[in-house]
Amino acid sequence: MTALTTLQADRGAALAAAEAAGRLDDAFLDRFDAQFPRLHSLFTELYGARPDGQEQLAETVAVASTAWNLRPLELKARDALREADPAWFQSERMLGGVCYVDRFAGNLAGIRDQIPYFRELGLTYLHLMPLFDAPEGENDGGYAVSSYRRVNPSLGTMEQLTELAADLRTAGISLVLDFIFNHTSDEHEWARKAVAGDPDFEDFYLIFPDRDMPDAYELTTREIFPDDHPGSFVQLEDGRWIWSTFYHYQWDLNYANPAVFRAMAGEMLFLANQGVEVLRMDAVAFIWKRLGTACESLPEAHLLLQAFNAVLAMAAPGMVFKSEAIVHPDEVIAYISPDECELSYNPLQMALTWEALATRDGRLLQDALERRHALPAGTAWVNYVRSHDDVGWTFADEDAAALGIDAFAHRQFLNRFYTGRHDGSFARGVAFQENPATGDARVAGTTASLAGVEAGDAAGEDRVVLAHALALSTGGIPLLYLGDEVAQLNDYSYAEDPLRRGDSRWVHRGNRPRDRYAQRTDLSTPAGRIHRRLTKLVAARQQSPELAGNALIGFRTPHPSVVGYQRPGEDTRVLVLANVGDTEVQVDPLTLSGFESAAFDLVHDTEVDLEEGLALPPHGFVWLRVRVR
Ligand code: GLC
Repeated sequence: MTALTTLQADRGAALAAAEAAGRLDDAFLDRFDAQFPRLHSLFTELYGARPDGQEQLAETVAVASTAWNLRPLELKARDALREADPAWFQSERMLGGVCYVDRFAGNLAGIRDQIPYFRELGLTYLHLMPLFDAPEGENDGGYAVSSYRRVNPSLGTMEQLTELAADLRTAGISLVLDFIFNHTSDEHEWARKAVAGDPDFEDFYLIFPDRDMPDAYELTTREIFPDDHPGSFVQLEDGRWIWSTFYHYQWDLNYANPAVFRAMAGEMLFLANQGVEVLRMDAVAFIWKRLGTACESLPEAHLLLQAFNAVLAMAAPGMVFKSEAIVHPDEVIAYISPDECELSYNPLQMALTWEALATRDGRLLQDALERRHALPAGTAWVNYVRSHDDVGWTFADEDAAALGIDAFAHRQFLNRFYTGRHDGSFARGVAFQENPATGDARVAGTTASLAGVEAGDAAGEDRVVLAHALALSTGGIPLLYLGDEVAQLNDYSYAEDPLRRGDSRWVHRGNRPRDRYAQRTDLSTPAGRIHRRLTKLVAARQQSPELAGNALIGFRTPHPSVVGYQRPGEDTRVLVLANVGDTEVQVDPLTLSGFESAAFDLVHDTEVDLEEGLALPPHGFVWLRVRVR
């Protein structure tokens, strides 16, 4: 075994390993030349001190070259298309949808049958929740993966997945899958071998003989799933302790071992070759641990992602990463760059949308849009109203303090509000991972239930539409949780299901609501009305090039309940004004006088004269095409 040495020597070793694994074609060599210096420097930083550094780097390149050789021609053609148009995901025509395969359609064949509906909706991106082989029984909704190369047999086969990816491509829809690379299930082959003491796998996980190291780490780590187990470790049957950030059956991989990186790069490229176009990088904040730190968002986490990005660029260059970092906004943004993750969830906008609806005050959201929305070129937000996970109040304490808000008390208020424990609340949410020790909690619930539809609140439907109007207009890729477009309500049956009752997120992961989908053209129902209004917004977005990309300029009015911003296009802008309050707001002509008076309302298809000012009804909003004077 050799440690990493010079770029030249390590390059030679890498090429030799790749050649031994199969032929080296020119297209690969070009990309190898472009990416290797970067990968080498990342490996040196991460694994410079390891005796097996050079070997694992060389093997990683061999894995990449083999994957390239196996990459189907149609995917190589897609790569070329994406490379010629790297801004493809910033188009105003992008619209994402997300669902569980089993809950939405039974299995992969069922998802295929839904393609006409996805097209009707205008989806260009479909995130199927984890569909891999996982332990029977509890498996964190599939986030405990037992094999990245096998589809959960209850959902279908890998061949079906590959065919589905192709069918989706034909329909103009990019398949998005999770890359759950922080941990595997305790049933993964690597996990079994590690516990059994197989020397090749012992170091794949973080296993300690006694409590000494776990105790030392836990002085500074946070409890992520305290309902499941305290701290970050669980005990094995033989008495040893293993790192488990999430559920006790999800064991964290040890990325300090470069063999883990090499192995996961292989799993990643296997998935790449099935036709996935976006990989959702699960739980990115947790992938590197260091004693004495929170073991979250350490610098090495970024280096690792960049190294995966370099490997992807060698062997599947049309693909992009989406970061799932639900952490402090400064940390969320640190993952986003064309060299790391091109896409990222925008948990801040999501949380502050709900914050604004509860408080009827748009100022925190307004500040966030003005100060925390900008992104590096070549990247985009994924904006969503809710996901399969909880709503966590990840705004920055200092941003709240700047508005005189005590962050701790405010989060407590929001938790009470959204779990319906606050007098006059319109929300029907359920607490998730309530931690009595820290007072921390998050909230579960479908959009319609959180927004007041379930409680029969008169403004519930307007809030659902308003929240989506924000997500659809601030830039990047808007992502719909399928079912929300027909006002799906909470499903409380999880509480009777022994496999689910411990995890309240199941309340908002109900089965596809057939009745509501059947009502989607019936305007006498909430499903029909919401569907009509949301599809109108989607259509308006598709026809508004101003809404592409991420550029956003704040627009302030004298009204704290109004969130305002402009999305600049070539000659025109789209001005969005949204009233999160319960009372009508009159925006006076002077406030709007920077624009030519003739404007066009994109949602209602009508001319508007800005010299007359604008009335924004409670929970009302406008998307106006305007020209700057
Ligand atoms: C991510 C997923 C979440 C899961 C966790 C552990 O945060 O979104 O659902 O529980 O990772 O994999």
